Amino acid sequence: MTFLRRRLRATIATLGALAIVVPLGWLWWSSLLPSSYDLATMGYVDLGGGPPGMDMPAMDHGTPVADLTGDVAGEPDVSYTFTVHQDGGDYTVNRQSPGPLLKATVGDLVEVHLTNDNVPAGITLHWHGVDVPNAEDGVAGVTQDAVMPGQTFTYRWVATRPGTYWYHSHQVSHSQVAGGLLGPILIEPLHAEPGATDEVVLLHDYGQGTSINGTMGISTLPARPGQRVRLRLINTDSGGATAWVTGAPFVVAAIDGTDVYGPNPLSDTVVEIPAGGRADLLVTVPPTGVRIDASGASTLVLGKDPSPGTLPATPQTVFDPLSYGTPAPIGFDPAQADRSFDYRIGRRPGFLDGKPGLWWTINGHLFPNVPMYAVAEGDVVRFHLENNSSVVHPMHLHGHHAVVLARDGVAATGSPWWVDSLDIRPDETYDIAFVADNPGIWMDHCHNLPHAAQGLVAHLMYEGVTSSFRVGGAAGNEPE
Ligand code: C2O
Ligand code: CU
Repeated sequence: MTFLRRRLRATIATLGALAIVVPLGWLWWSSLLPSSYDLATMGYVDLGGGPPGMDMPAMDHGTPVADLTGDVAGEPDVSYTFTVHQDGGDYTVNRQSPGPLLKATVGDLVEVHLTNDNVPAGITLHWHGVDVPNAEDGVAGVTQDAVMPGQTFTYRWVATRPGTYWYHSHQVSHSQVAGGLLGPILIEPLHAEPGATDEVVLLHDYGQGTSINGTMGISTLPARPGQRVRLRLINTDSGGATAWVTGAPFVVAAIDGTDVYGPNPLSDTVVEIPAGGRADLLVTVPPTGVRIDASGASTLVLGKDPSPGTLPATPQTVFDPLSYGTPAPIGFDPAQADRSFDYRIGRRPGFLDGKPGLWWTINGHLFPNVPMYAVAEGDVVRFHLENNSSVVHPMHLHGHHAVVLARDGVAATGSPWWVDSLDIRPDETYDIAFVADNPGIWMDHCHNLPHAAQGLVAHLMYEGVTSSFRVGGAAGNEPE
């Protein structure tokens, strides 16, 4: 009797264990990624959002990504040769980091010859914030194969919008970008403001905190009183950056490469810059000088230091683009959206490529069952972004600029706020919209690059476009 009962108990325990182990084993097994895969056809999740009765886009035929080069025939107006070198965890472009400034004027045909000197994992260059044709976007496994040691790849694109941007690798980007494989881009308008000078202020943490153009601590630039300086701040880190101006009022002249309409002067205000984002601050240098403090770690002084020897306290007021500047037309009607998507960020335990962990989810799905947001060229597209996790996510859509409609349901009232890099803080929601005017397959991911490597990656996919490249495989493509 006792024996039978004991056996029964043992059987129940075994069955119980099996009930846990078998589904776990299945979850583990089903999470394993194939050795190479096509982002456009795997893991497609129908997210709805399209017109009723819309079919899944045919992804097996259409224009290959590799053909979406744009019209780039002829002699380039500016040409660069960038050679990338790796030394342990450090990366340089032409033996410097940040890499050389890529400078062009609107209308210029830009050519960049990228050479991989010795990076075994391969490299690419992505032009963050520049809405280039898809084949020039520089994402390994999506728009090209990684450039292996000894190889060269030539990018060609036309600089169509003025503004502050940056370039960085999009192969194993979570380690290559942190290690310095990056540089600034400045695209001048056709008619620059006379008398104003440009200063690139590229922020990057090489391990000791935020540096300015690679220098820790205080950098001083000569400036004469009355000089107007446009400070082009670029946050190249995976975390947010802050900046504040001491000694003079300033205006936020541009965000993510788009000029703010009717910006009003600010003082005692801290500007937050999302990972990947940019902010142009315009100041007039007073006789007593002006300084810009970045993340409390490094300082740029123009002329004299108005606060020598002390770090001015971080201002209490935080700049809010939602209500800054003057409204202006945006060129389309977001109320007439052809597609409306949700991009809900969460987190849950599971397996990613066989590894157990807490992974990011998009609309409840774990990578590789990541959403593919399907659009047709010409669509007005709306996204409802939602952060149901406890950390900020700087979301970055490639190839497009979106306008912010609302935050937490509160409508934007200032200048049109165009973004390519947008911080979604815990429990926040954003509604954004854009016109699908750049056919291709575009990443739409978190620019906290370790988060992207942990599955916070989706794609915007145009109907009639088919992929040309695969992740993994012999090409070794590993975009995150
Ligand atoms: Cu700045 Cu997908 O990149
Ligand atoms: Cu994130």
